[in-house]
Order: sequence, then structure tokens, then C-alpha cells
Amino acid sequence: MFTARQVFGAVQRRAFSASSRQASKVTVLGAAGGIGQPLSLLLKLNPRVSQLALYDIRLAPGVAADIGHINTKSEVRGYDATPTGLADALKGAEIVLIPAGVPRKPGMTRDDLFNTNASIVRDLAKAAAEHSPEANILIISNPVNSTVPITAEVFKSKGVYNPKRLFGVTTLDVVRASRFISQIKNSDPANENITVVGGHSGATIVPLLSQSGHQLSGEELDQYVHRVQFGGDEVVKAKDGAGSATLSMAMAGARFAESLLKAAQGEKNVIEPTFVDSPLYKDQGCEFFASNVELGPNGVEKIHPVGKITEHEQKLLDVCLSDLKKNIEKGVKFAKENP
Ligand code: NAD
Ligand code: LMR
Repeated sequence: MFTARQVFGAVQRRAFSASSRQASKVTVLGAAGGIGQPLSLLLKLNPRVSQLALYDIRLAPGVAADIGHINTKSEVRGYDATPTGLADALKGAEIVLIPAGVPRKPGMTRDDLFNTNASIVRDLAKAAAEHSPEANILIISNPVNSTVPITAEVFKSKGVYNPKRLFGVTTLDVVRASRFISQIKNSDPANENITVVGGHSGATIVPLLSQSGHQLSGEELDQYVHRVQFGGDEVVKAKDGAGSATLSMAMAGARFAESLLKAAQGEKNVIEPTFVDSPLYKDQGCEFFASNVELGPNGVEKIHPVGKITEHEQKLLDVCLSDLKKNIEKGVKFAKENP
């Protein structure tokens, strides 16, 4: 038996060794937006974050002043669009989250955001390549299927591309897939973990329900798949012109950042779905693909294959790959033609 003192000492040592390793600067670009604000709030509550740098073209110092009053240890600084603001926000960052850009309105696809968001992401990627080339770059701005390839091209053109450190954030698809199945099966969504692969828009989002132990068939399965693929549209419609998912996305982005920090701090078996430079479907023209990825101190540790899937899921995957290829090509072409 351990005495209370021994147990307390062990807990204290663990707490000390965890905190002594924690010196993680996290930067949010687009921090004053619908996602940026609650995301920054959740990051402020994360004890693994030691410095929080909030950058936006408007309002970031105000958001930083507000969040900075929360009584957790991390230092918060706001940076606006002065010549040095972006560079200072990025320098020394371990994680850079990018939710900068415009959201959808009803009737729009994510691809309709391309014309505006492609250049926003390209410019922020250029700054990140220059000032935080070794950071983990987490792309939230849509269309993710194209903005991730754009970021990769920018990093390649600067000679600092590390495929293990670039992530398209697709966590929200898995969050939704878990929530939606729990509503059908009356289960606890916290215990659900549905694998979702492909990309992040409509038919490129492929939930693999067969791997979860749950079974649906016929119309019920079709409705479930449709809801996961078009969950974003549900929110866009309900917000009626005022934007897209922000709060659930903030939670998903904070979860992904937390997983990266855990993995960087030595935790094993940290697995998240994410859209990365992946060997899985390169031979079919998809340089990037989302699947479960084991994270580690160097970012991507191991890309899990899609695994055994049903005939129905294979059909969904075939449609996904054909759309995804075009989205990726569009991003690469844009970055090459508009350096
Ligand atoms: P928003 O309009 O509320 O906020 C965007 C913020 O970006 C604004 O504060 C704006 O000032 C800022 N911004 C614009 N240009 C910038 C630049 N050059 N540098 C820095 N900041 C800049 O939008 P939102 O609801 O927060 O959504 C942001 C993006 O995230 C959209 O493209 C949306 O489609 C996407 N999104 C992705 C997911 C996902 O799962 N990956 C989920 C939801 C939303
Ligand atoms: C989502 O999935 O909620 C986001 O990609 C935002 C959108 O446009 O639907």
C-alpha cells in the first residue's frame, strides 16, 4: 500500500514534469472571427499552452485584452496588421491555427469561397513559411481541400515544406459523425469515434460506419451519410446568412491542437483524423487525403490506411477521390500561377 504522502508526492512530480515541458506558443491567425474568438478562449483554458498569440486584420488586441484576463497561466498577446504584427505573432510558434477567411452563406459551396480565401491563406502561409517554418500549421479556412495544397505549394516554393507538419483540420466531421450516430442509437456521443476519411466538403467526406460496430442500412444509412457530408450546410442554413459553424468548429480545432500538444509532450497513441500529404491515394491523383493519423513530436507519425470497408463505402470513396483530385489540382494551380 502507498501512503497518502507517497501518492501526493508522485502526483506533484508528475504535475511538475508535465508543466516543466510546457512551453508551447500557439498562434491563431484570424483570431477575432467567429471561430477565432471561441477557439482562442478554449486555448486560453488549455494548461499546455504557455503563450497565445492572436492575430487578425481587425480587433485582435481587443480580443487578447479580454481573454488575457482569464486566470490561467498563459500569456496572451494581440497583434494587428502592422508591418511587424504578423511576423511577431508567428515567431517561435509551435502551432499555428488558421481560421482566417470568409465563411459561406446559404446556397454557396465551400468551393465558392476559393476566390477570396485562396489568396488570404496563400499570404498567411508565406508569412508562416518565413517566420515559423518549423511550426505545425493547421488549416481551418475553407475550402480545406484546396487551401491545404496551396499552403504546401507556398512552403515548397520557400524550400521549407515539411509534409509532417501541415494539417487540414477535419476534426469537425468526426465530431459530427459521432454526435449524429449517438442521436440514432441513443448512445453517449463521447464514447463514439466514427472514422471519417477523404476531404472536407460534401461528397469528399466519407464516414466509415462499418468500422464502428454500428449498423445502419437502406434509407437510414443514406440519411446518416448525407447528414455527415452536409452537416455544415445545416448550420449555414440555420444561421441564415450570418456565417457557418463557429462554436463546434472552435471545439474541434481546440481538440486537434490539444492532441498535437499531447503528442509533442510525449504522449503515445494520439490519433486524430486529419487531411495530410498522404501516400494512400497518390496513385489516383490525390496528393492529400484525410484518414486517422497518429501524431508524435514530429507531427505526423503514422498515416493509418482506410482499412476494410463495405461495397457501399467503396462507392462513396470513389466519388470522393474524383472530387478531391479536382479540388487539390485547383489549389496547386492557383499557388503556382499566383505566387
Ligand atoms: P469570420 O468571418 O467570422 O472570421 C474570419 C476572420 O478572419 C475575421 O475576423 C477576419 O477579420 C479574419 N481575416 C480575414 N482576412 C484575414 C487576413 N488576411 N489575416 C488575418 N485575419 C484575416 O469567419 P469564421 O466563421 O470564423 O470562418 C472562418 C473560415 O473557417 C471560413 O473560411 C470557414 O468556411 C472556415 N470553416 C472551416 C471549418 C472546418 O471544419 N475546417 C469549419 C467551420 C468554418
Ligand atoms: C463546416 O463543416 O461547418 C465548415 O466547413 C463550414 C461550412 O462552410 O460548412
